[in-house]
Parts: sequence; C-alpha cells; structure tokens
Amino acid sequence: MTKFILAIDQGTTSSRAILFDRAGLIHGAAQQEFRQFFPQPGWVEHDANDIWQSQRAVIDEVLRTNKVAPTDIAAIGITNQRETTVLWDRATGEPVAPAIVWQDRRSTPCCEALRAAGHEVLFQQKTGLVLDAYFSGPKLKWLLDNVPGARARADKGELAFGTVDSWLIFKMSGKHLTDPSNAARTLMFNIHTGQWDDELLALLDIPAGLLPAIVPSSGIAAHTDASLFGVALPIAGIAGDQQAATFGQACHSPGMAKNTYGTGCFMLMHTGQAATISQNKLISTIGWTLPGQTANRTDYLLEGSVFMAGAAIQWLRDGLGIIAHADQVEELALAVPDNGGVLFVPAFAGLGAPHWDAYARGTMVGMTRGTNKSHIARATLESIALQSADVLEAMQADAAMPLTQLRVDGGCARNNLLMQFQADILGVPVVRPVVTETTALGAAFLAGLAVGFWASQEEIAAQWQMERRFDPAMAADERVQRMGEWRRAVERSRAWSQ
Ligand code: G3P
Repeated sequence: MTKFILAIDQGTTSSRAILFDRAGLIHGAAQQEFRQFFPQPGWVEHDANDIWQSQRAVIDEVLRTNKVAPTDIAAIGITNQRETTVLWDRATGEPVAPAIVWQDRRSTPCCEALRAAGHEVLFQQKTGLVLDAYFSGPKLKWLLDNVPGARARADKGELAFGTVDSWLIFKMSGKHLTDPSNAARTLMFNIHTGQWDDELLALLDIPAGLLPAIVPSSGIAAHTDASLFGVALPIAGIAGDQQAATFGQACHSPGMAKNTYGTGCFMLMHTGQAATISQNKLISTIGWTLPGQTANRTDYLLEGSVFMAGAAIQWLRDGLGIIAHADQVEELALAVPDNGGVLFVPAFAGLGAPHWDAYARGTMVGMTRGTNKSHIARATLESIALQSADVLEAMQADAAMPLTQLRVDGGCARNNLLMQFQADILGVPVVRPVVTETTALGAAFLAGLAVGFWASQEEIAAQWQMERRFDPAMAADERVQRMGEWRRAVERSRAWSQ
C-alpha cells in the first residue's frame, strides 16, 4: 500500500518538496532557494530552468534522505507561486525569455491603456480581478511584444504559455495543462464559465493557441514521464499556492478565512459556490474545482493580496544587513518596548490590495535621532499586520459577515510577536495550526482526494488541529489611533514614482 503524497511547493524564492502521511503530517521535507533577478527598478525575473532544476533536486533529495521509494508515492500534488509568466518552445521545452515574476511592474502601461479605453469593469466582471500588472495576461502580452520573434512564433503555434504549475507539469509529463485556480490569475479566464475568454484575449492581443487546457484542481491530470522516477506517478492535485493554503487550512465553508505570511501576505475568505465581485478593491478568485457526482464543483474566494511581507524581513537581512537570519527579527524587535513612533510602508513593488497603486514606493516615517535598528525591525513586523488589517476591513465590508477567527500559516506565522500584534490590530483571534505548511498540505489533500488516499473533504478537515490561539488584547481606542497613523503613512508612500 502506498504511504505518502508528494507535495511540490514551488514558491517565489524557494522550491520545496514535502512528503505527507495519511494523518496529514510531514514525513520529510527538502527546500532549495533559487536565483532572483532584478534587471531594472520594478522588474523581477526568474530563470524558468532554475525553477525546474531546483524543484527536481528537492524531489530527489526528499525521497533519498527519507529512504522513500517512488513506488511508495500515491500521487503528486503541485502548488506554486501564482501569476509568474513562463513562455517556452513547445518542441525543445526551453523558455524563450526569463519568466516575469508576479512582483514585476513592467506591464503597468498595458493595464493603464486598457483602463483608459474603458475596459476595467469588463475585466473585473469576467475575471474577478483588478487591471493590475500583478496578473499574467499583461505580462504575457509584454513578452509577445518585446521578445524578438515571439509573436510570429506564437501565431504559428510554436510556443506555449503557462504559470509555474503548467511549466512544471510540462517538464514532468509533456502535457500542457493548468487548473482553474491558476488560470483565474491571468486576466484571460472567465471565473464564472471556467473557460478562457475570447473577448479578453482579443483585448490583450493574445492568441488562444498559447494557452494550456483547463483541468480540475483535484483529479488525475497527467502522469510523470517514467524516465523521471522510474515509475509513472499520477499528478492529481494542482492549485495556486494561496488557494492551496486555504484548502489546507480546511477553510471549506463560507466565512472561513486564512492569512499566509510568505514573500507577500495573502488573506483569503471562502465565499461559497458563486463569485462575490468586490466593491472594495479586493479580488474574487477561484479556490479550487473538485469533481462532483454530476458536475465539477467550484468554490470561490475573496482575496486581499499584499505584495511585501516576508520579503520586507529579507530586506532587513539582505538590504540593510541588520539581521543575519530572518528568524532574528523577533529578538531584535523585542529589544525595544514599541516602534518609537516609526512606521514603515514596505511598498517596494507598489501596493496591492486594497490600494492597487503601482507607483507607491517604500516609505519610512516618524524617525527621530533616537531611532535604532530595533525600532525599524518592529515597524517592519507591524507593517505586515497593518497591511493585513487594511485587507480585512475591505473583506468585512464585501463579505458582510463578521470574521470570528483568522487561521494563519507561512514562515512569519511562527513569529509570536507578529501574531499577537496581528490579533491586537484586527480585534479578531488569530489561530495557528499544528501543521503550518498548509500550502503544500492543501496540494497534497487535493491530490490525495483524487486517488482515494483520503476519502472525503470531511476526513481531511477533521485532521486540522490548533497549536496556539492569540486573543486580541489592545484597547479599541489604541487600535483606532494606530490605524489612523498607518493610513497617514500609506498616503505618504502613494504615487511616489509616478
Ligand atoms: O500571488 C503570488 C503568490 O502566489 C506568491 O506566494 O508564497 O511565493 O509569496 P509566495
């Protein structure tokens, strides 16, 4: 009997492979960082071959170090950094340009032109998204318009586009596929019909022949090439990382929400089996599509995407050099009793939800001669929670249902100071599960359900266990005052580079 599900978690800064057992617990994990390229201000690129090679290496490592044979794997689940745009040659399997990462702002002019032409509402109604450079369609258009020969080759059917899930599936199986949770991040996909949308493709000037086929998030989509692992393994789960984390946190019913503190910070709330179009600058997105007895069932989510969270802590490490390891930020911040009046808006790549300001830039205010690196560390941690508070406010207004608790995960969710401040500033209990690798767990659950490793959604939801709960302790008037200061700081960061 097979013993494990292998989850592939391809993130913005590292590739991971995690083996989960039937109890939903981690049996083994491997992780490798890969190169980030910043060729111009506002540009962020990856080498798609680095993505694949690092992913391949960690899969081999996790099997080898845990002495797990490929025949012990029931299925593979894939989850990935979303929106990052890869364009490759179908015949050779080689990328034709660097991948444009979700944080990259170069396609802002394309979005502005579409907005000026009056298409914003159409895009929002069909895709649930705002017209922003964050999403894949404008990035793909940029590649077709700027990589020599790319448009002509695309028209001849020689090229393939994919988000990172598609790229990895292509490398593992030769199939060109994606799932609705990833397709929903492209501005080319109609989230109500579950199909690529010809009208939007025409507006973006993108040939439909570039696009992958859509398959359910849970279901056997392809088998790995037998030469990879010596046996053809089913790829049975696919989901964008934030949707996978929502599934892994067992937020399976309307009103349940999670916040993942990764490179960015992403709060998602389940809204049921129909999309809620936001009135408050959040986005509506597909969570996952599960095969039903008669038809596939699609669950929808509202999302607030914050672009800089863990990346701001990495900046303290790599940009300022005031910590040697990201984990040291809590100790540094605890060396002072408060932020000393310092507020930091880490808008390095503009601001995402609910501001959507591509021209905002990082801003630090309130410094005095007494400001030291501990105040800056504290302000950085607080900025992560404050950005999430802006998102929650918009979410409450859209969803019209009060949040009773927020489930948290991701690297920074281990930071107790941050989690307590998050509960304080939200005025909502913050709950951390035993397994905080919920992104990979969600992908594993989707794959495991498809192959009968787990019997039902109820079975996996029952595996969710709380590790710690942070109750709000801040007085309401202090919360109001802190949010007011934060809003003034955000205002100062806005439209800076315009
Ligand atoms: O939308 C971008 C998101 O999918 C990236 O997630 O975990 O790599 O920060 P992460």
